[in-house]
Amino acid sequence: LMSISDLTPAEFTRLVLNASSHKSAIKAALAASQTPKLTQSGLLSGRTVAMMFNKRSTRTRVSTESAVTLLGGHPMFLGKDDIQLGVNESLYDTSVVISSMASCMVARVGPHSDVANLALHSSVPVINALSDDYHPLQTIADFQTISESFVAAVPTGHSLGLEGLKVAWVGDSNNVLFDLAIACVKMGVDIAVASPSGYGIPEAMRQVINGAGAGVASPGRLSETTVPEEAVRDADVLVTDTWVSMGQEAEAKKRLDAFAGYQITNALAKRGGAKAGWKFMHCLPRHPEEVDDEVFYGPQSLVFPEAENRLWAAVAALEGFVVNKGKIV
Ligand code: CP
Ligand code: NVA
Repeated sequence: LMSISDLTPAEFTRLVLNASSHKSAIKAALAASQTPKLTQSGLLSGRTVAMMFNKRSTRTRVSTESAVTLLGGHPMFLGKDDIQLGVNESLYDTSVVISSMASCMVARVGPHSDVANLALHSSVPVINALSDDYHPLQTIADFQTISESFVAAVPTGHSLGLEGLKVAWVGDSNNVLFDLAIACVKMGVDIAVASPSGYGIPEAMRQVINGAGAGVASPGRLSETTVPEEAVRDADVLVTDTWVSMGQEAEAKKRLDAFAGYQITNALAKRGGAKAGWKFMHCLPRHPEEVDDEVFYGPQSLVFPEAENRLWAAVAALEGFVVNKGKIV
């Protein structure tokens, strides 16, 4: 799983629905002090999942380790000081060696080519845990969160029933946006992006995002602007992320200056005319400059259910890619 681009709309839908159904079943079992059925099945029993992280992580690390545990397997965390991906050893050697011992590699890297190269040479499934281009596990959790918030009963069929919704992304055009936008286009959800001039979607990525609609009957529409108010008009969900992603620390001052005026606030939503009842999402970690406390901790914020859903997305992804070898059912 490198990107949401790898998935058909049906596979993406299935992962999101599986994440939701594991969430209810496992939470109900744990609340009744029972061992969840999924854990009893021991689908990853005796298997190791190697987690190779070149960057910091709270949610991705904890959700992946917890998901492997729920499936009865052993998560092995390998930080950048434990192994050095592509530094003291080639990616080829690392991939061949680790995949000869573990049942899956979950990798957080800088350049997307690093995780793509691991996957190319691996004999076991590889899951992208964030690269400079994509964050597929986040997008599965985000659509689960949108689905749980906007659809009264989580559907059990083959559709999430989100067609016609509008997502507004106000902020940096980054890895989290790219997979989210790909999913929106695939699922018939419109996405409007407002970024300052010079921080918009690169042309090659725009083509990938628009290409995600190929073969989809009513794809979601991507629109881009430099004006936050334009993006939020009639939006159901307002989303943002940090203005300074990991690896961009040296540009922090320049970026903070460039993004002045892009903070998500209730005043912005009102000026722009977001829909009544609009919701707010953020993958976290969050800084106050991109969204103020009133919105982030306010009644329309979905950020904590969204963070929890990272666990259920990880369960669904490990089940789909490791247990079922990419057959997403
Ligand atoms: N949202 C997310 O991926 O958070 P972490 O960087 O803490 O894993
Ligand atoms: N865009 C952020 C996401 C962190 C989860 C980064 O790459 O640092």
